[in-house]
Amino acid sequence: MIYFEDGEIVASSGDVNVYKYEGDLYLDIGPGHNLWAISSEIKEYRHQLRKHPRGNCLEVGLGLGVVSNYMLILPNVKSLTTIEKNKDVVEVYRQLLVLYEDPGNIHHDIILGDVVDVFPRLLKVNKKFDFIFFDHYSLIDEDTLINLHSLIPMAKRILRDGGAIMGWFDPYTPSEFANEFYTLFK
Ligand SMILES: C[S@@+](CC[C@H](N)C(=O)[O-])C[C@H]1O[C@@H](n2cnc3c(N)ncnc32)[C@H](O)[C@@H]1O
Repeated sequence: MIYFEDGEIVASSGDVNVYKYEGDLYLDIGPGHNLWAISSEIKEYRHQLRKHPRGNCLEVGLGLGVVSNYMLILPNVKSLTTIEKNKDVVEVYRQLLVLYEDPGNIHHDIILGDVVDVFPRLLKVNKKFDFIFFDHYSLIDEDTLINLHSLIPMAKRILRDGGAIMGWFDPYTPSEFANEFYTLFK
């Protein structure tokens, strides 16, 4: 059984589709059916993020909004800003909001743009965050590590003193990349 053959489309914009299949949501991008997010990943996100998000939070990569919706109900989170480069992903998230439970009253600001362009803009206006979470990659490989290497110094400059930076860790990452990934966030 395959989600895009046997599931039902519940939100759609451009070449971005969200399928519902056996109770889970699947974010599928492009004709090649690239699977970018699954709602069941909430268990792993909860395990990794725990109660770390607090204050003014910044997230890179909206996807299905699983992480957004988790952060928005954490008691110590004051605001959430999410950077997303794909306008169709933002549109399907808006379509899905009616399906999600009430995500509370916290302000959620979604910035449409590539993180590479948005970070310098945030720096320019001296915007600061207490927590930054990277989740704009689908696996941790050499390219992802190079990309994070270039972004983390900028992230440190928009991080308030005492704040924290985290990145989604894919549990299937080979050890040679996993070690490098962890040292990036030290
Ligand atoms: C793995 S998904 C994020 C899953 C999400 N955290 C969730 O809870 O469903 C990655 C997302 O990052 C976005 N993305 C990829 N590269 C990006 C970039 N350079 N800047 C901003 N967003 C990016 C993709 O369009 C996709 O929506």
